[in-house]
Formats: sequence, C-alpha cells, structure tokens
Amino acid sequence: MTVAQIFETMEYGPAPESDAEGRAWIERHKGVTKLFIGGRWAKAKSGADFETSNPATGKSLIRIAEAGDKDVDAAVKAARAAQPNWAALPGHQRARYLYALARLIQKHSRLLAVLETLDNGKPIRETRDLDIPLVARHFYHHAGWAQLMDTRLADRVPVGVCGQIIPWNFPLLMLAWKIAPAIALGNTVVLKPAEFTSLTALAFAELCEKADLPAGVVNIVTGGGATGELIVNHPDIDKIAFTGSTEVGRAIRTATAGSAKSLTLELGGKSPFIVFDDADLDSAVEGVVDAIWFNQGQVCCAGSRLLIQEGIYDAMVAKLRTRMESLRVGDPLDKAIDIGAIVAPVQLERIRTLVDQGVSEGADLWQPSWAVPTEGCFFPPSLFTNVSPASTVARVEIFGPVIAAMSFRTPAEAVQLANNSEYGLAASVWSESINLALDIAPKLKTGVVWVNTTNQFDAAVGFGGYKESGFGREGGLEGTYAYTKPRRDKAREAWKEPDPLPKAKPAEGSPLGIDRTPKLYVGGKQARPDGAYSRPVLAPDGTILGEVGEGNRKDIRNAVEAARKAAGWASASTHNRAQILYYIAENLEARADEFAARLSAMTGAKPRAAQAEVASSVARLFSYGAWADKFDGAVHSPPLRGVALAMNEPIGVLAVACPDIPPLLGFVSLVAPAIAMGNRVIALPSERHPLSATDLYQVFDTSDVPGGVVNIVTGDKDALASVLAKHDAVDAIWYCGSPQGSADVERASAGNLKQVWVDNGSARDWLDPADGEGEVFLRAATQVKNVWIPYGE
Ligand code: NAI
Repeated sequence: MTVAQIFETMEYGPAPESDAEGRAWIERHKGVTKLFIGGRWAKAKSGADFETSNPATGKSLIRIAEAGDKDVDAAVKAARAAQPNWAALPGHQRARYLYALARLIQKHSRLLAVLETLDNGKPIRETRDLDIPLVARHFYHHAGWAQLMDTRLADRVPVGVCGQIIPWNFPLLMLAWKIAPAIALGNTVVLKPAEFTSLTALAFAELCEKADLPAGVVNIVTGGGATGELIVNHPDIDKIAFTGSTEVGRAIRTATAGSAKSLTLELGGKSPFIVFDDADLDSAVEGVVDAIWFNQGQVCCAGSRLLIQEGIYDAMVAKLRTRMESLRVGDPLDKAIDIGAIVAPVQLERIRTLVDQGVSEGADLWQPSWAVPTEGCFFPPSLFTNVSPASTVARVEIFGPVIAAMSFRTPAEAVQLANNSEYGLAASVWSESINLALDIAPKLKTGVVWVNTTNQFDAAVGFGGYKESGFGREGGLEGTYAYTKPRRDKAREAWKEPDPLPKAKPAEGSPLGIDRTPKLYVGGKQARPDGAYSRPVLAPDGTILGEVGEGNRKDIRNAVEAARKAAGWASASTHNRAQILYYIAENLEARADEFAARLSAMTGAKPRAAQAEVASSVARLFSYGAWADKFDGAVHSPPLRGVALAMNEPIGVLAVACPDIPPLLGFVSLVAPAIAMGNRVIALPSERHPLSATDLYQVFDTSDVPGGVVNIVTGDKDALASVLAKHDAVDAIWYCGSPQGSADVERASAGNLKQVWVDNGSARDWLDPADGEGEVFLRAATQVKNVWIPYGE
C-alpha cells in the first residue's frame, strides 16, 4: 500500500470536544431558566415555559421561561428607566463596559462555544473558531464607537429603548450584532433570543452581571413568537431590530406601521454564487463548501444558487461531487466534523419537503454515497442540477445544506440570473479577472458582494440586504445610523389638520395670464391623465388659479414603468448628475419671478417670502449638485488581507409624496437628493398647491433631465401614495403628510418590503438647511453595498 492510498482509505477517529463545562452550566440552571430584567434574575410572571433540546441527540437540555406581557412590560420599564443615565455617561465610560464584555466573552469562550453547539447543533469547530471570536470582535469594535461617538457622530443622539428579536442560526453572534452597537451608542435594549437557542443569551446576561453593567441597560427575555409580538407591539419601545424570516419581517413591518418606531430588518436570502470560466476551480469548490455547508446551510446569506459559466459547468459539478463525498456529517462536538445537526425537527422537515418538491418538479438531486446519522436532526449535503430558474429550489430559501446549480453563457446573463430573485442579501463572484469581478459587483442587487471569497463577516463592515432581504445595516459606520437619530434642538411642530378648502370661485380672467391645464409628466413627456379628469387649484380666497390632471392608478403604473426604463440614470457619472442639477437650478433662477408670483398666488405668501422660497430652492439644487459627486462611500479594513468597499448605491425607483407647504421648496428638497444619488423618481407634488411643480416640467425639459428620471403625478396625494406604496416595482417611498397617511404608507409597503421614510405628520423647517437638507436625505436615498476584495496569493 502506498502512502497516498493510506491517506485515501484512512478512517477518521472520533475527536470529541468535552461538553463537561456546558453540562455543568445547564445543571446549575436546572428547572426553568429565569429572565434577566433590570439587572436581576426573575421568574417569568407568565408562569409558562417550554423545553429546549439538543438537535444532535434529540435529548432535552433544560426548560426555558416564556415571557408574557407583564414580563415584557417589566423589561421595557427597566430599559426605559436606565436609558437616560446610560446615554449621559461619557462615551469613554460606555466604551469601558463594552471592552469589559469583550474580555469576558474571550475568557469564557470555551463555555460559550460548547453551550452554543449543544443548543444549536452547529459544529464546535465553527462556534469555537468563528462565532465566538466574532462575538468578541463585535464588542471590541463597538467599544470604539462608544469612545468616538462624540466626535464621529457628533450630530446624532441615541434612539432610546430598542426591542431586538433574533434568530437561532447564529444565536450569540446575532445577539452581539444587535446589542453591541445599541448600547455603545447610548441605547438600552430588550432582547429576545429565538426559542430554539436561548442558552448563550442567558450566559451572556451573566457576563453583563460580571461586567457590572448598570441595571436595565441589557434585558433578556426568552420566549417564542408570541413574546416577540409583545416586544414589537409595546408602546414604549422606540426601535425594533429584527433578524429572521421574511414572513415575520413583513408581519413586523405591518404591526409597527404608524407607531413611529424605527425599524431595521435583516431577512432571508437566496444568494447567488457565480463562477466564471476563468475562476480557480479548486478555490471555487472550497468556496461552495463554505457558502452552503457552513452552519448546515442555515445562513441567511448562504450561497444557495450556484451559477456556473457554461464551459466549466461539467468540470465544476464533477469536482464538487468529489468534494461532497469527503464531507463529514455527524456529532457537532466532534472537532473533525464539517456539518452538524439541523436546529430542530421542524426545520429538518421543512428542508425535506422543499427537497422533495425540487425532485418532483424535475430537478436532479445528488447526495454523497454515505448515510447521515439516523438519530438527531441530520441532512446530507445536497446538490441539485438540471434546475430551471423558476423552480422552487431556485427561488425559495431552503435554509439547509442544499444548493441548486444552473449555467449561464455571458456575464450579462449571469447578472440577470443572479438578480432574478426577490431577495438581495449577498452574492459571491469568482473570477481571476479583477476587471470582470469589479464590473459585475455593482450590477448585483445585493447588500454584500464577496469577490473570490464568501461568508466573510466583520464588525467594521456593514451587513444587510437589498429588496426583500430587508433594510438597515449592521456593523461599520453605516450600522451606527440604525441606532442613532439626528440631534434636533428645536422640537418639530405636531401635525395640524389643514384648514378646509375655501369655496371655489372662477377667476376674473387668468391671474398669471396663463390659461392651460397642465398634464402629468411621465417619461419626460406631458401625458394626459388616464381618467381625463382634472381638479381645480385654488388661491387662498377660493379663486380658481388653474387646473391640474387627476392622476389615477393607471397613471402611477405608467410613471413607474417610465422610471424603471430610465435605469441608465443610476450609472450616469456623478459629474453628469451634478451638472444636470446645476442646470435645473440655473433654469429655475432664470424664471424666479414667475415662480415667486405663482407661489404667492397659490399660498398667499408675501412676495418676499415667495422670492425667498424660490431662492432657497435654487440653493438647495446647488447643494445636491455639490453632493452628487461627494457622498462617497468608505474603504473598510476588516482583519483580512484585503479591503471592503462600502459603496453608496441608489435604491432604484423612489416615490416621494411632497409636503403641501412649501410647495416648491418641499418638492425640490425631496426630489433633488433622490436624483443626485442616481434614483429615478415618481413625485406627488403638493396636493393643494401643485402648480409650481407642474411649472417645472419645462425647466426639466430645458435642463437635459433624461426622460423618466423625474415623473410627476398630480391629484389626491394620499390615494396615489397608497398605490405607490403597494407597487412592487417601487423600491422606496418617502411620505410627508398626515400621521394617518404615514401609517397607511408604512402598512402598504409591507408587500415588497420597500424602504419607507415618513414624517408622521411632523413638519420639517424646510427653509432651515439644518433640517431641510443634508446627509440625512442622502442616506435615505442610498443603500450601502459592501464589496469584499481579498488580495495576495
Ligand atoms: P422566524 O422568523 O419565525 O424566527 C425568528 C425570530 O422571530 C425568533 O426569535 C422568533 O421567536 C421571532 N418571531 C416569530 N414570530 C414573530 C412575530 N410574529 N413577531 C415577533 N417575533 C417573532 O424564523 P423561524 O420560524 O425560526 O424559521 C423559519 C424560516 O425562516 C427558516 O426556515 C428560514 O428560511 C428563515 N429564517 C431566516 C433567518 C435569517 O437570518 N434570514 C433566520 C431564521 C430563519
């Protein structure tokens, strides 16, 4: 027998990690676990509890308290009471607490790793070498944000009390992603771990005690979906941060509509793993192992769609099968195991059902020749070939060790296939050509792109999705915005119902000598409203100043279509976009007197005030012309040889419902930042005073604004906003108006989980640049994509 043959035939012996420490911890907490509220351990007042078991053996571990309404309420009260003092601590003091937590996590890393593996079923190799080190890294990194908050985020303040709900796939790591930024930036939290995996969250609460963290800063309540709902619906919570399924994310979006709670969602994915024919195939195969068999494929950003260029398809699939044959599934406490247990029987069943569906739809399933353990929740690594892009296994998040392979011919086709998903969390691109990889990365509609690598995470690099994968980022500077809000010295005025409309009376002649009914503005052309209705525009004394088109559902559809067609605007150079904004400003200024007269006629504003509004609008266009080529991203330096490029990308098609007052400046203040960042807009101008927006049609025409970049639909603002909020081809919506309108828009947006920004009826001071313009608008008009580029041999 040769040495090579010996290596090939040698069996693995068992290499188990001792679980003694984890067992001892469980023994100490035997009975029913408690809740960590206000710095103390309390029995759940609900009296309810449930069992948690080890998915690798099916054996019960312990009973977990199920927090009820009184428990959640007590936790929120504790968090509320603690928040002002916590926020008032000097950043350095908060930094010291986070630093202490990071140190404690490292000191107890073995216990945490074993406990996680017992509770979740993931291989000890992963909990020990990946989950727990990343948890510590998150607290270290965010200790830094606490320290630097006063300087780097000087214009921002904490959001307040945060309700945080996390999933079971990375229990302690998701806790760290939620708690570290929140408390670093002066918030307090009520966190609920997933029902399958509560243990490390409780162990973390013990570390908070050891760190002498002030009571109430971190509160941990255990329980299932019902406990989660209690947090979501609690009236005294300022922000909800959720990671989990898209279905629950959608329910939370609906439940929080109109509550003024801020919301970040990190949801599911169906991430493409794209292999070009010049890729290093052996590396790509190892990449697939990390993409889909890491954590049993229970990873929101798992590379579950394998897109292979035609010429190398057969070779890649053959290599992959050989590699799959050598993977090992089994006892997760065994240090030489690649794939551990699926978290729970219900998840195993879900995977089986979806795989069966794949087979029945005609795809070819391939699994290695060996069998997985029959006790416990195990599923073999699985590869589907002969997959159609519309089939279940190519579309639905399986959340298991299952990958679906498809082929493509050209880079353009790869992009098309990759983007053919309602999700947009992550993508992985494999090519030895840096040109090709960096050409593809911006074209992928995902929040993360890994070049020649996959499943990389770091506290310094934002993580989060596009499209139905959610909104908001966790990690990095971009992640700090989710846990802070702009500092405002002056409180905003509360919503006042507008005065009733005056009685309409015909004009004696035309006040401005203009006698025409402006149409809608769609695709760069004036379009007659579909319903052929128009509505009068009244002066304050009721005089009819003119009429505008009454837009309807069909007009909105046309406008959205025109906006989608103008996709080239997103890739226009920032210089070009800046030039066009300056040009609009120039052409508006040339007609300043006419616009001022129009404003006075519509709103009754004194000439000086009207002139000031026009001048402010011109200045605002200049501001965003200036910003167009200056709202740069960042180059993050995660701890690998390489960089992560944080790029500010346009969101896509953005709907804006403008405030009534000031009609021109309100419109310009919303449309200009949106288009400066490369979005295409459907604008609903001031409902009462729309003529200064319709007067802009000619300004846009003479300013080289490409058709479809700005579309304007006049009419009933709230009704049209609701159509836009429901429209699946609209990627984001901004709404200024009543609290009721804000709530309706938030609720209606849940369909495709578009990004929503509403003012809940609190009017900005649009004339004040500190309130009416700036980075807040630019951030709302963009989403951050992080492109990871490792380098070196
Ligand atoms: P889930 O979304 O139901 O659970 C995630 C968390 O939300 C848990 O803490 C749960 O208790 C809580 N929750 C459930 N219903 C809630 C509600 N109505 N209000 C507030 N909180 C609620 O996910 P589940 O059922 O555990 O897994 C189902 C599928 O979801 C998986 O097969 C997978 O496809 C997907 N999933 C995706 C994750 C991701 O990171 N993208 C994580 C977990 C699951």
